[in-house]
Amino acid sequence: MPAARLVVLVSGSGTNLQALLDACADPAYGAEVVAVGADRTGIVGLERAERAGVPTFVQRVQDHAGRAEWDAALTTAVAAYRPDLVVLAGFMKLVGEDFLAHFGGRTVNTHPALSPSFPGMHGPRDALEYGVKVTGCTLFVVDAGVDTGAIVAQRAVPVEDDDDVEALHERIKVAERGVLVDTVGRMAREGWSVDGRRVRLGA
Ligand code: GRF
Repeated sequence: MPAARLVVLVSGSGTNLQALLDACADPAYGAEVVAVGADRTGIVGLERAERAGVPTFVQRVQDHAGRAEWDAALTTAVAAYRPDLVVLAGFMKLVGEDFLAHFGGRTVNTHPALSPSFPGMHGPRDALEYGVKVTGCTLFVVDAGVDTGAIVAQRAVPVEDDDDVEALHERIKVAERGVLVDTVGRMAREGWSVDGRRVRLGA
């Protein structure tokens, strides 16, 4: 069976991307990262792709007339690589209608909180400020909302008394990388189905 084609979108350090690149080095994993896209230049995530010899592209919102034009350009850039699955790994933009029309149902995003708690850009900070004792990470199928899509997998992470945001986020990211590699690998090898808010692995 041919390896599933992954396009990964990043906006930052790309440690989630790196975990996928490392996993894909084993043919038994069943997937290959065929391209890495970003919404900005000069990020380590793009350097990681270049080091791995993976093609990259950048689509910056400010280079387009508006958000819809950016969304259309991003969709075209991703479509050029014929992905089976798109992975948003620290991608800090909301994809729009055009993107979801093309890749809805086969785009997953990883969020550093236990959805539906603490959606948005500051999951670890919001969890810490709320005072939860357990938080975690969520892999979900992207929909038009902010971190509201149907959940594929989650993993719990303890909050320690002396945590600051950075320490907590780093602990979450360890769990996040594990969930991402394990789950994307199963989706690549076994397939998946989305029925309303229920996601099932296995064709
Ligand atoms: C991850 O925690 C992701 O969930 C959040 O930003 C972080 C990106 O980390 N949106 P990296 O760029 O993969 O290291």
